[in-house]
Amino acid sequence: MKAFTYRAGQLACETVPLATIAAEVGSPCYVYSAGAMRAQLQAYQDAFAARPALFCYAVKANSNIAVIRTLAAAGAGADTVSGGEIERALAAGVPPQKIVFAGIAKSAEEIRFALGSGILQFNVESVPELLRISAVAQELGTTAPVALRINPDVDAATHSKISTGRKEDKFGIPYADAPALYGMAASLPGIEPVGLHLHIGSQITTIEPFAKAYRRGIDLFNEIRGAGIPLRRLDLGGGFGVRYRSETPIPAAAFAAMVLELVAGLDVQLVFEPGRAFVAEAGALVSSVIYRKESGGRRFLVLDAGMNVLIRPALYDAYHEVLPLAEPEADAHLEPMDVVGPICESSDIFGRDRYLPLLDSGDRVAFLSAGAYGAVMASDYNSRWSAAEVLVDGDRWAVIKPGRAPGAQFADEAIPPWLEAVRT
Ligand code: LLP
Repeated sequence: MKAFTYRAGQLACETVPLATIAAEVGSPCYVYSAGAMRAQLQAYQDAFAARPALFCYAVKANSNIAVIRTLAAAGAGADTVSGGEIERALAAGVPPQKIVFAGIAKSAEEIRFALGSGILQFNVESVPELLRISAVAQELGTTAPVALRINPDVDAATHSKISTGRKEDKFGIPYADAPALYGMAASLPGIEPVGLHLHIGSQITTIEPFAKAYRRGIDLFNEIRGAGIPLRRLDLGGGFGVRYRSETPIPAAAFAAMVLELVAGLDVQLVFEPGRAFVAEAGALVSSVIYRKESGGRRFLVLDAGMNVLIRPALYDAYHEVLPLAEPEADAHLEPMDVVGPICESSDIFGRDRYLPLLDSGDRVAFLSAGAYGAVMASDYNSRWSAAEVLVDGDRWAVIKPGRAPGAQFADEAIPPWLEAVRT
């Protein structure tokens, strides 16, 4: 399902014109299509119909509780990386037995909270973490279900900053150390090794790195089981790529066929933890033109959203297609323009030479495929209004997070007593 299409000359999310939303909630704002999220989840659920898998949505991609709930209501669990994300997942209504807790820096407090909540599984990344989970579980008189995250040493062929499965990356347990660590986990009080976990990176659009990593993971899984540790769950991570520009994502059916062949005959519960694939193409960022200016022989379109709202272009050189909300006439004259944000940094640039009609102050545009790692990575840098978030479902829509005024951003800052008396 395509979330954003022109309808009667206006870019719409499902059936709602983005201009209608922006006029009410202000600009910039993120708009998400619930239908597109559900359709993506459904595509994977259908592809795995022969062998139902649990899809734990990686809430880091978009942790708004309305987004999590939309996916949870369609059967998804949650993959979390902090106590805060577990709180969000629970607040959104995800059953604890569908929550996995990953991340390399779990504190004793977070472990306590996760154990108290009765989550499905801890994905463990190091020996000290394993020891700490064991200690907290004993303190609470309980047992922690654990999967070890192994590092399969596979290059996911994606942007270096979002690659996680090479041996030099900070994630996981070295492949060669895993058998000994499973032995240790099995003997530790308060720990029950239940599974094996791996995740090699994000925005992966070719099937080979997945197949290679999964094969290595399954070999190890069998070896550990052969050694008498009754693992029952294989968490194969996320990382499924989406379309930003001209990428061709792996079709869910092709992905499932690859996995199902690898796990044929293996009695195991399959878990996946995609984030981006469920929400990226379901979201757009709407922004307004503040000025059009010319300088240094270039034409700039200066917007009210920048790296404070969507940091992916500045951080990863990411590409986001930009479309005017008002559909250009078929014969409209398009001009190359550098589309930039308002932030005082040269890296605050969405793209150079984007061909657009000669937009001007007050006109609005939308950046596509912005539903993942957009709002969640926003900051208050430069103290501008934050972007509101809106969820559309058919012809209904609702604000799921209001924009925050600069005054609200500093409302809980405080001037220390010794400065209060100082004359300014
Ligand atoms: N599981 C683990 C253990 C992860 O570290 C991640 C993402 C996921 C699942 C979900 O990956 P996904 O299916 O969304 O690719 N901010 C970057 C992406 C960072 C991904 C971090 N880990 C970006 O904007 O491209």
